[in-house]
Amino acid sequence: MKAIVLRDLGDAENLKLEECPDPVAAPGEAVVALRAAALNHRDVWIRRGQYAGIKLPIILGSDGSGTVRSVGAGVDPAWVGREVVVNPSLDWGNDPRVQGPNYRILGLPDNGTYAEMIKIPATQLAPKPSHLSFEEAAAIPLAGLTAYRALVTRARVQPGETVVVTGIGGGVSTFALQIAKAIGARVFVTSGSDAKLAKAIELGADGGANYRTGDWVQELVQLGGGGGPDVVIDSVGGETLDHAVSLVKPGGRIVTYGATTGAVKNLEVRRVFWKQIDLMGSTMGTPAEFTDMIAFYEKHRLKPVIDRVFPLDEAPHAHRRMEQAGQTGKIVLRIE
Ligand SMILES: NC(=O)c1ccc[n+]([C@@H]2O[C@H](COP(=O)([O-])OP(=O)(O)OC[C@H]3O[C@@H](n4cnc5c(N)ncnc54)[C@H](OP(=O)(O)O)[C@@H]3O)[C@@H](O)[C@H]2O)c1
Repeated sequence: MKAIVLRDLGDAENLKLEECPDPVAAPGEAVVALRAAALNHRDVWIRRGQYAGIKLPIILGSDGSGTVRSVGAGVDPAWVGREVVVNPSLDWGNDPRVQGPNYRILGLPDNGTYAEMIKIPATQLAPKPSHLSFEEAAAIPLAGLTAYRALVTRARVQPGETVVVTGIGGGVSTFALQIAKAIGARVFVTSGSDAKLAKAIELGADGGANYRTGDWVQELVQLGGGGGPDVVIDSVGGETLDHAVSLVKPGGRIVTYGATTGAVKNLEVRRVFWKQIDLMGSTMGTPAEFTDMIAFYEKHRLKPVIDRVFPLDEAPHAHRRMEQAGQTGKIVLRIE
């Protein structure tokens, strides 16, 4: 098979198309002929050497969709020929509240989806939603799962509640917006770009505030009708998380799943306890949450937002596009 292999850390040009041995399914595994893969920021950070536990050479990629080509012993042969999406959340463990010690994300240290084929435990597969193309289905797994657990399992967002999603330009944020709207919440967003705010409103957001040009906390309080939101979903971290503590209504919930701008230097702890805020961490999700999330996409006929599709051999261009942060939505690799 052909795959994009990273042998040396550094520039996007280090992602090279190579001929690799075809994977063979071990007991409990399936081999999937991939039709599409999608990028995550994680891939760029690994390529640059800014990620823990790097091992080389590696085939990057956490997100993928395709058709099952063969299965190993102990796997139902009915899987062969099925169109599937791959769950990148590996070995979660037995406790649904937190991942166990063997937990890892597909694409490091295990070889990932920038390839014509992948072998993976069959328990990581879910049927591809019938209304989605392979490219659309490949865009969902990592970001969709992260957003789903944050909103549904952790924040328990209810219809009619108000949710704020910070940094709507982020890959996961777009999924959070979509899922929260499908639940029936009112959703407000923040961005440093008016164009991204306009795009979010096109996608269903009820309004937004630009964090570069004004007091976004005050703007969102006013947009929401005077009180703060019930829930803030944040991956920006830093002072944005502290502002979320000011913004959320008393008794509200904040879920953090990322820290793009780093640690919170001035968290106003008194506000956290006096307002009786639930501050929750979240990361990826369990196998059951993955199945539920895919079923949610099928039930609500949701389609992920795709920025651009590149052929597999143009993976370096796809990485550069992500580094330039020009995208809205997922960057996808098409695999012929
Ligand atoms: N825990 C998990 O399972 C998990 C999974 C996926 C991602 N993550 C983490 O989540 C974060 C987001 O990842 P991503 O790939 O979805 O998004 P991303 O592409 O890294 O984008 C993050 C967004 O944050 C906003 N932002 C950046 N600097 C900001 C600032 N100074 N103030 C306010 N907003 C700012 C920007 O929004 P605008 O462009 O709209 O201005 C940007 O588009 C990363 O830290 C990532 O590591 C965690």
